[in-house]
Amino acid sequence: MDYKGLFAKSLAPHLGELSVEKIYRFIEQPKQLSHGDFAFPCFELAKIKRMAPNKIAEDLATKVKETLFEKVEAVGPYVNVFLDKTQVGTNVIHEILKKKSHYGDSNIGNGGNVPIDMSSPNIAKPFSMGHLRSTVIGNSIALLLKKSGYQPIRINHLGDWGTQFGKLMVAYTKWGEEKKVRQNPIEELLKLYIRFHEEAESNPDLDVEGRKWFKKLEDGDEEAESLWKWFREESLKEFNKIYDLMGITFDSYHGEAFYNDKMAEVLELLEEQNLLTESEGAQVVDLSEHDLPPSLIRKSDGATLYTTRDLAAALYRKRNYDFDQSLYVVGNEQGLHFKQLKLVLEKMGYDWAKDLHHISFGMILKDGKKMSTRKGKVVLLEEVLREAIELAKTNMEEKNPGLENKEEAAKAVGVGAVLFHDLKNHRNNDVEFSLEDMLRIEGETGPYVQYTHARGCSLLEKGGFNGFNDTMYLEEDQTYMWPIISELLSFPNAVQRATEQFDPSIIAKCVVDLAQEFNRYYAHVRVLEDETKKQQRLALVQAVVLVLEEGLRLLGMKAPKQM
Ligand code: ARG
Repeated sequence: MDYKGLFAKSLAPHLGELSVEKIYRFIEQPKQLSHGDFAFPCFELAKIKRMAPNKIAEDLATKVKETLFEKVEAVGPYVNVFLDKTQVGTNVIHEILKKKSHYGDSNIGNGGNVPIDMSSPNIAKPFSMGHLRSTVIGNSIALLLKKSGYQPIRINHLGDWGTQFGKLMVAYTKWGEEKKVRQNPIEELLKLYIRFHEEAESNPDLDVEGRKWFKKLEDGDEEAESLWKWFREESLKEFNKIYDLMGITFDSYHGEAFYNDKMAEVLELLEEQNLLTESEGAQVVDLSEHDLPPSLIRKSDGATLYTTRDLAAALYRKRNYDFDQSLYVVGNEQGLHFKQLKLVLEKMGYDWAKDLHHISFGMILKDGKKMSTRKGKVVLLEEVLREAIELAKTNMEEKNPGLENKEEAAKAVGVGAVLFHDLKNHRNNDVEFSLEDMLRIEGETGPYVQYTHARGCSLLEKGGFNGFNDTMYLEEDQTYMWPIISELLSFPNAVQRATEQFDPSIIAKCVVDLAQEFNRYYAHVRVLEDETKKQQRLALVQAVVLVLEEGLRLLGMKAPKQM
């Protein structure tokens, strides 16, 4: 039930000049519950009516009547509405218990396809913190879209092409050992790559050779191609360990190389429309009318570029998926690239260029500095995740030594801590990396929410919850239960906003707020003590447990029953 909508509808007959939709958009949710559950500001109306806003509010407050409203009052220029706590509380609990994980589902997306370009690490290079962010944010957005009725398509646009492969082949054929690479692909390949650059400083022949090898690869030379395939496979195996830990799968692994035979068409189309101009021997699309540097399409040696592949990929995705929207979850630093990409597509006459969205995000910092994956300072992500799991396990052994399924729970908490820490702030903010902070049980952390959920589960278990059918939820003292109900009520709207704004932090905030209100309730209300009220209270606990679990799921996290 949409109570905000109900308020809008009950206002409408008294506001002849405004449509229900418009009124709906005006309605606010006061920061403090003492100001009611919803508030309608009368400023705009005052302008139209040429009346004092306070006067309008007073007048409306006497007119609005609805059985589900406990009180309607004018406070200054606002009409504040207080919902009937018992009726509304009972309704929302019944709704959640019935819909379970489907509470908050909608069909806004109407089945429309939304490809999400996410994760997209580079072959033979370490999986960076940026790729972690892209993976985690992209996955949560995919889950949100699905809940809102879209069909998300997770695409791992692997960086599996480019001149660096030529260099790597030179290094491998000169200094590499197959066994070592098989054992530790990323580390060994990175070492080879670094050695190549070190030696190339004093030996320019290496670069020449590198270009030769890449040319061989482009021309389909057997040896070059089998090395490329092997590097790709070994790297993917390594990346998959990280995806497995996080429980993330992809619908497509079409990386940059997939578009090799699809770029000729892009070049032809650009040529046909006279969009290509020469600049220092290279071919570019001029974007000076947008005050942007030109988009580089083909280098002077004929080689195509990152942008050319992305143009081919955009076309391919439109044809293949006929998307409603096409997302690219990639760091802020590629902002210019995606602006150019959209503008070039627009110049090519594709009106769907407007449906491409760069879902940008900030950096992960360590002690205020960017975490580097270059040279010796590689932070191997799999190790980070394993360390988080170990730490979670140690914490658990202290708190709950007899716990069954310790491994499973530690994995859920360790990985969840990393995910939550990433998602709790708006994605465009930089994130300071600290395992200790992530794993704290107090404060706005994943483990805090997970612990709250487990606490709820244990109450249900101990109390023998009976399912609560057709009963009213009555609580004489509504001080601690109402803030919980209010959070539960706002969940569907939070899902909608998070989906529309591609912003999982809205959900993270929602589950933290709900967990906090629930813990406050738990500290003041003896849930299991009073036999006559026990089942009603457990029904509230069950609703909280369900919404916490669903909220965590939307962030890509698990909610263990015990921890
Ligand atoms: N592989 C790239 C990188 O690591 C990210 C690719 C993003 N996706 C895209 N379609 N350009 O920077």
